Amino acid sequence: MSGDQSEKGFTRVSTSKIITPRLAVVVLAAGKGTRMRSNLPKVLHPIGGRPMLHHVLDTARALSPSSLHVVIGHAGEQVQQATPGDDIEWHWQQQQLGTGHAVQQAMGSVRDDEQVLVLYGDVPLIRPETLENLVAANPQGLSLLTVVLSRPDGYGRIVRDADGKVLSIVEHKDATEAQRQIREVNTGILTAPAQQMRRWLDRLDNDNAQGEFYLTDIVAQAVADKVSVRAIQAEDAIEVEGVNQRAQQALLERAYQRRVAAELMHQGVTLMDPERIDVRGRLTCGQDVTLDVGVIIEGDVHLGDGVSVGPYTLLKNCTIDERAQVKAHCVIENARIGQEASVGPFARLRPGAVLKAHSHVGNFVEIKNATLGEDAKAGHLAYIGDAEVGARVNIGAGTITCNYDGANKHRTVLGDDVFVGSDTQLVAPVSVGRGATIGAGTTVTHDIPEGVLAISRVKQKHIEGWQRPVKRAADKTTGEESK
Ligand code: UD1
Ligand code: MG
Repeated sequence: MSGDQSEKGFTRVSTSKIITPRLAVVVLAAGKGTRMRSNLPKVLHPIGGRPMLHHVLDTARALSPSSLHVVIGHAGEQVQQATPGDDIEWHWQQQQLGTGHAVQQAMGSVRDDEQVLVLYGDVPLIRPETLENLVAANPQGLSLLTVVLSRPDGYGRIVRDADGKVLSIVEHKDATEAQRQIREVNTGILTAPAQQMRRWLDRLDNDNAQGEFYLTDIVAQAVADKVSVRAIQAEDAIEVEGVNQRAQQALLERAYQRRVAAELMHQGVTLMDPERIDVRGRLTCGQDVTLDVGVIIEGDVHLGDGVSVGPYTLLKNCTIDERAQVKAHCVIENARIGQEASVGPFARLRPGAVLKAHSHVGNFVEIKNATLGEDAKAGHLAYIGDAEVGARVNIGAGTITCNYDGANKHRTVLGDDVFVGSDTQLVAPVSVGRGATIGAGTTVTHDIPEGVLAISRVKQKHIEGWQRPVKRAADKTTGEESK
């Protein structure tokens, strides 16, 4: 819902903490989402790496509801499976007969002393503060969350009388030309006491342009019952925007990322450009963390005090300790990086990589299921897999652990202070005693004792008077060089 909220004269209630003691949140998630053109149910499409529905549930839980209901239909099993939570009561809506019908599916489990709050699985950016405000505004009556849009097409319009009192909601398809001029629209989010809600829902009919049981028709009923109806305007239109198609999903993704970036900066993180960071999971940071442009965070990532992350680096499920530096273009997944270690540029840390304090991993080094000891270094072009590398070990360029024999993985153990010359192959299982030196180009197939020099290089020989081959003359008949 892109638009403005400049119109005056509507009720605004300041955020208060008067939450009703018993709140039943009902999340509608039964729709198909045809316009997403996807096999994935719409509410499972991600924003910030998590299904939209999960964002809505988190927000609902922030209100400490007495019960939490999700109405499912299309691909409901898939939605259930992807959504853990013992606190959720699931309700099936076998046929999508309208939003009113959807809420009705949950009402059997809602208690009379609860206040019902209706949310949508495809409106993921709604904030708890906005809902607290709505829930507290008029607990004995019906409260609607509305928004004023410059282009209200498609939405249900809020019809008011001359004094500004809400009379009804009329759906776009049922609206007269005059009603279509109204720019205040229904977000769909509303709240009312359970008993009233039940009574109004029971009276709904589907005598309208879409042949659906409209939840919105409860407004006119409330007015007829002389129950107070209040419309509370959302402060931020993006909060109440729903996702029906990919372009809206992309729009909300950006809005979400901007929100996360603002929060990080508020916590004291330096973002070289808040428009160019993507957090698709949970990021926690110590003090004075700096993130350069294009950093992508996935899963759970923790960055200690003074950590800096260079441009275009992907960090997934990892912990990086104080003052460590990760440089440009690294891919780091399920790894742990110790204090003041330095990684990259162009390094890849795969699951199980553990770099101890002050260690260094340079460009084109891949580390998997291996520990690099304190002050150890692998500066260039190496593969270290299934290994334990001691403190102060130096791994030369081109070194690889041959950890896989085609059937099983084997370990390589390098003691403290080992020096591995360039282009060494460590054929695992193998271990190298502390302080040993391995000459460049060595293929290590046997364990090496402490302190020795191991070398398996073919002896260098010199051939005197060696003539380099010369090119043959071109073939005269074809003009081509003979092969
Ligand atoms: C609804 C509102 C409209 C409001 C708009 C805001 C009604 C009748 N209209 O219209 O006033 O401006 O939202 O976006 O409520 N759903 C079910 N089961 C159903 C029908 C819908 O679970 O049988 C779910 C959908 O998955 C969706 C949500 O309810 O998440 C809204 O349904 P949708 O059909 O998109 O309603 P709109 O026509 O957009
Ligand atoms: Mg809709």
